[in-house]
Amino acid sequence: MKEIKEKLQETIKAIRKETDFSPDIGIILGTGLGKLTEKIEPESIIPYKQLPYFPTPTVESYEGRLIFGYLSGKKIVAMQGRFHHYEGYSMEQVTFPVRVMKFLGCNMLIVSNAAGGLNPLFERGDVMIISDHINLMGVNPLTGPNDESLGPRFPDMLNIYDRDLIKLTEEVALKKAIPVKRGVYVGLQGPTFETGAEYRMLRIIRADAVGMSTVPEVIVARHMSMKVLGLSIITDLCSPDVLQPVSHEIVIAAANKAEPILTKLIKAVVQKLNDPQKWVPRSEK
Ligand code: HPA
Repeated sequence: MKEIKEKLQETIKAIRKETDFSPDIGIILGTGLGKLTEKIEPESIIPYKQLPYFPTPTVESYEGRLIFGYLSGKKIVAMQGRFHHYEGYSMEQVTFPVRVMKFLGCNMLIVSNAAGGLNPLFERGDVMIISDHINLMGVNPLTGPNDESLGPRFPDMLNIYDRDLIKLTEEVALKKAIPVKRGVYVGLQGPTFETGAEYRMLRIIRADAVGMSTVPEVIVARHMSMKVLGLSIITDLCSPDVLQPVSHEIVIAAANKAEPILTKLIKAVVQKLNDPQKWVPRSEK
């Protein structure tokens, strides 16, 4: 079996045949939130099927593509279409694009998702800045042999979501009059939505939003010392007392509706990042 590093080198080689663009920021767009890609001035677009070891998404309506270009004047690469563990992909496959982003030169990862709101003060359509996460997926993407040249065997997960990026995002949101919440995201494997008893348990352990993605990608990003900003769109309410049936269609419709706000926020935050490569979180200063 090929080592991860070897696979990464093959994928980078395939990308370098298409473009020598070197992005500073990687962006992963969640379910129903892919429209941000329309705001990118593209330099190069590569379909996943052209890339070795990239799976193809099974839940999104568009085909998966890597989009290289400029957003608010900054060099970025965005994933249009992400992978979930519940689709049957291994954790290595789910997180492989994050490693590719790092190898392309990205120092920072902005990740978004559609999530259920557990905090009773949340409303549908709210934007939540992720302050921390709880991994209840039952698996960890770093299980297995560790390549020390990628990151440590036992990576620290304190301040996994960069505190200064959170602060900056809150300041930008205030300036742009975009209301934002802040909270803890809990990642579950899915693909079932949760039972009432499970929602109650998730609230007891102090989670504010629940979803089926993000946690693996962020763990791998931190394994490689990338700075992470995470944003959730609250697409449905999961307080056990106000519980309504939820479906993928409801989640997508709510995410689509809130997408312009998220796009506006991400664009404004990226604009403020004067030198993404030199960003040093407070905890490491
Ligand atoms: N659980 C509940 N509601 C949701 C989820 C989830 O994983 N994702 C989006 N809305």
